[in-house]
Amino acid sequence: MSDKHNAQEVESGEPVSRRKVLAWLTSMGLFGSAIVSIVSNLVFIKPRATYGKPTRFAIGTPEQFPPGTRIALGDQKVAVIREGDKMAAISVVCTHLGCIVGVADTGFACPCHGSRFDQDGNVTGGPAPKPLPWYELSLAPNGELEVDKGKEIESGKWFTV
Ligand code: FES
Repeated sequence: MSDKHNAQEVESGEPVSRRKVLAWLTSMGLFGSAIVSIVSNLVFIKPRATYGKPTRFAIGTPEQFPPGTRIALGDQKVAVIREGDKMAAISVVCTHLGCIVGVADTGFACPCHGSRFDQDGNVTGGPAPKPLPWYELSLAPNGELEVDKGKEIESGKWFTV
């Protein structure tokens, strides 16, 4: 073997030239780059649409909310109110800067800047510019109550169960 061609002997006895090693490394690099490029393009092409939470959701049967109920459903950010056979779903998102208001016997109170709302969600104090929105409440065919946060209704428009 000559030093002229920079050949190396491998264990099998076949000479492997530096040129072959470099060609192999180059082709592996190109192959790797191609794979990365294809994967990147596929990730880029895939739609990134997020549909968010559905605006309409079930909250349970009317029997689960006995008369006198005033509870906030934390995940859904609504308060379910029941007075006798009348029910309502009122937003618990403060109309000032979006904090979650607490449900109290006297209405709603915002812990952030002190806004106060009466039991129907009307502003009684603090910086909140608007009352808490009421959402449409309905009874599904399976007997469960459904709240539709996509449909605001007039304050004081109760749903009768
Ligand atoms: S966010 Fe409720 S008072 Fe400011």
